[in-house]
Amino acid sequence: MRKSDDFTNCSAELSYIRELYAVEDDLLKNIRNECLLNNRPITINSEEGKLLQILIKVANIKNIIEVGTLYGYSTVWFARALPENGKIWTIEKEIENSKIAQKNFDKLENNLGKKIAIINNDANTALNKMIDDNLQCDMIFIDADKAGYPEYLKLSEKLVKKGGLIVADNTLLSGSVCKDYLDGKITLKAQNGMKLFNKMLADTTKYDSIMLNTQEGLSIAIKKF
Ligand code: DHB
Ligand code: MG
Repeated sequence: MRKSDDFTNCSAELSYIRELYAVEDDLLKNIRNECLLNNRPITINSEEGKLLQILIKVANIKNIIEVGTLYGYSTVWFARALPENGKIWTIEKEIENSKIAQKNFDKLENNLGKKIAIINNDANTALNKMIDDNLQCDMIFIDADKAGYPEYLKLSEKLVKKGGLIVADNTLLSGSVCKDYLDGKITLKAQNGMKLFNKMLADTTKYDSIMLNTQEGLSIAIKKF
């Protein structure tokens, strides 16, 4: 399930788009390189970051719950698109990742890091706590344990406002969702989980939704209820 690389071996078309419309500054570049160096090249790509910024602005999103921080690459794109009073709660289970992410957020310009709160906890525990606290958000971004996606979606239904956005990364799961056999490093639990998640999100009685055919699949849904 390879995701971001050093951006040197992508197609000429993708490279053209990235250089023209989705340019990374040093902070974003450094975070992606940090992921590469630590053998976790699994961030979204810059064109996806830019697309999500545009969605945030068009939909007037003011607050976001992010499930899966890693080193904060996507969080940085979000923080830069949110309004002045915007807020991101980003959930990360691994303390070491949280520390690296916090260090990256501290480098954000104009004190934008103040918009971001890292929640160092297991995703289901953190989301259930938010539900107990009656938290409501405009958008949720799911990018964590792949087998957990159906449960994250159930919890998201309680957290995202009517008309809000549910966005999820890796919904093609390296193409494994189109297959009825297992190959590569994908587990059966993750494959079945992602297939179920995609079916749930394709329910037109609940969502206006689409999956974009990015490298890993990026699903976007408006919650209708
Ligand atoms: C993996 C996780 C991701 O979120 C991603 O975008 C790519 C790969 C992984 O765990 O392998
Ligand atoms: Mg991902």
